[in-house]
Amino acid sequence: MEKLYEGKAKVLYPEGEDTLRVYFKDEATAFNAQKRGIIPGKGVVNNKVSAALFRLLEERGVKTHFVEELSEREMRVKRVRILPLEVILRYKAAGSFAKRYGLKEGTPLKAPLVEFSLKNDALGDPLICEDAVLALGLARPEALEAVKATTLRVGEILKAFFAERGLELVDFKLEFGEREGEILLADEISPDTMRLWDMATGEPMDKDRFRKDLGGVEAAYQEVLRRVLGG
Ligand code: C5P
Repeated sequence: MEKLYEGKAKVLYPEGEDTLRVYFKDEATAFNAQKRGIIPGKGVVNNKVSAALFRLLEERGVKTHFVEELSEREMRVKRVRILPLEVILRYKAAGSFAKRYGLKEGTPLKAPLVEFSLKNDALGDPLICEDAVLALGLARPEALEAVKATTLRVGEILKAFFAERGLELVDFKLEFGEREGEILLADEISPDTMRLWDMATGEPMDKDRFRKDLGGVEAAYQEVLRRVLGG
């Protein structure tokens, strides 16, 4: 079937006017696609984890693009106009934040921190401040406020959910879309887009195992799925 769009980890297929089918691939990229590989079974994990988390968030009143799971690797979502922003929420310093400010990974932050990056592969998704988002007309002020408030709410819900499953949510990335004047949480929420540390061992259980060549990547993804579904 004709593709609407193929990204690094997902393929979008058009359905009707209102919905899309998302297919989750096993391909993995890191560092703006300079590093590439395959994580066997990743597509299944990311589809199932995303579906479970979108359902949880919907139950708690967060509006998302999720409609239903279609198969092991596919979900149906509402069509939205994606805002060209990556919204990152951090609880502890890690990854690009730790590097930028010369901090040890795991340094706690005094308060949850929301950061924005411009979604632009050619520019390497540069960090962008809220005033620049508004000055460039990338989002209306009300939309930006809604995105920020929703991100903090999503963080509260997910942090508690993962803590009950022995996983510490360190940071995560969200994307939002607009549809009929409404802001909906879109894209995916998976071990590709979150940092999750095992509370017992401190071990990363997410894409950092791939980024840093730590081994056990496939097993970590399967374990996250097991804990998410295990309840
Ligand atoms: O690399 P950095 O520390 O900026 O990443 C913060 C969080 O956002 C991590 O959980 C990472 O997996 C996620 N992220 C993402 N897609 C990107 C950049 C970061 O999902 N393009």
